[in-house]
Amino acid sequence: MVRVPLRWPWVAVLLAGSALCSARANAQETKKGPVSFINDVAPIFKEACFACHDAKKRKGKFDMTTYESFRKGGDNEDPIVPGKPEESNLVFLIESDRADRMPPKKNGDKLAPEKIAIIKQWIKEGAKLDEGISPKADLLKELRRRWQPPPPPVAYKFPVTVTAIAFTPDNRKLVVGGQHELTVWNLADAKLEKRLHTRAERAYAIRFLHDGKIAVAGGRPGQEGDVRIYDLNGKAKTANGVAILDGVHDKSVLVEVLLEADDSVLCLDLSEDGKKLAAAGVDRLVHVWDISAGFGKVKLEQTIENHADWVFAVKFSPDGKKLLSASRDKTAKVWDLEKRESLFTFSGHQAPVYGVTIKPDGKIGVSAGEDRQLRFWTVASNGKQVRNAAGHGEPIFKVIRHPSQPLLATCSADKTVRIWNQDNGSSIRTLTGHTDWVYAIAFSGDGKYLASGSWNGEIKIWNVADGKIVKEFNASPGLQAAK
Ligand code: HEC
Repeated sequence: MVRVPLRWPWVAVLLAGSALCSARANAQETKKGPVSFINDVAPIFKEACFACHDAKKRKGKFDMTTYESFRKGGDNEDPIVPGKPEESNLVFLIESDRADRMPPKKNGDKLAPEKIAIIKQWIKEGAKLDEGISPKADLLKELRRRWQPPPPPVAYKFPVTVTAIAFTPDNRKLVVGGQHELTVWNLADAKLEKRLHTRAERAYAIRFLHDGKIAVAGGRPGQEGDVRIYDLNGKAKTANGVAILDGVHDKSVLVEVLLEADDSVLCLDLSEDGKKLAAAGVDRLVHVWDISAGFGKVKLEQTIENHADWVFAVKFSPDGKKLLSASRDKTAKVWDLEKRESLFTFSGHQAPVYGVTIKPDGKIGVSAGEDRQLRFWTVASNGKQVRNAAGHGEPIFKVIRHPSQPLLATCSADKTVRIWNQDNGSSIRTLTGHTDWVYAIAFSGDGKYLASGSWNGEIKIWNVADGKIVKEFNASPGLQAAK
């Protein structure tokens, strides 16, 4: 397997994503007929221009994310002269070789000749907006609406990167995030039972709700993110003994869409009483929903903007009154959900924080991340670090709490999973055997097992009591044995 030498799966996927975009633009080159703004031109703008010319950044006071604001122009006027590409300022700017070309020389490559040709052709044909789209429409939303997720691979050519796993409530099966799908594996014989097609290319967090449905946070890096509720017992077809569920279109499978964001949603938590869900991700926003009235009646309770960078983890306090979060901004934070204010910021890591949890007494938060340390701190307005624990040789991706015993589990880029004493921070056991970075861990509801999943698709089920492996398999359906 060829491995891109990048540290983070998000980065690797981001690159893969932009490669796909250019493949698409290339395919359009050969297309006959008039150029469509929304299908042909807007995707180029989105990829090369929106980063600086969206409604927030508006470089040069120029917002390209609606047709209307695009045609209004910025400091200068309309950058387009319909029918006359050679007189359009926009064409001058994208064809220029000067430092102030668009995108600016220091910020990116010049647009590929075939993309410039598409834009010029569109201007030549009158620079029209497609029928049925309002000039005020948010082009990102319009593009998202038009995008259809590809089906998951029938047989994987490369191992899936496991970024999310969850035991089913009966502790007998494991749900694993795959490529545009969730896969369900029977743990008794490691057999693939179900495949549920998802819009999201990747799942970053999976939680079973009290009614047996699942909430999944995920996305397509750099493109979109979502939180969706699925029913694994919805309508299914059977192929080769595996149940196939359509979580993209079938309403018996896709129960509800809670969130559509402009980039990946990386984490999700369910309050212990099962009434509230929280999710957050790349756009830094933390959303909290009240799901107690049932689907169709979900209420977005609050949207919290408290971090300066990606949010990697959220965790409700046991009483559901506070929410802990961990971020790439090098802090973990505690939000008071009742007073709707920030209670405490823990800055002890001085490096990105990837995971956070809280002890059952609600008094001690535990966070971990790039600095390879587990840090324990008091959950109070004047909180402070009370303990730290070292052991992992590489960054720690997750820290989770055992459902009943005073144990914590962590997983790391050092290819190990560790079990810790929650009270004194001592390392109880190091679980070795993974041959790649371990991103995902989950305890079974009965607390007997710990599951872990890694970058190369390996899943291992460990016996919590003695650390022995009880099952292992690769969660990439149909993957050829030869690697
Ligand atoms: C890295 C940021 C960045 C990117 C990416 C970028 N621009 Fe710009 N753009 C700017 C800045 C900054 C200005 C203002 C320059 C100035 O005032 O001298 C600007 C100005 C413009 C203007 C002039 C607006 C006016 O009315 O004055 C146009 C047109 C433009 N950009 C088009 C584009 C297009 C098309 C793309 C994508 C192919 C793009 N830009 C990508 C930063 C960017």
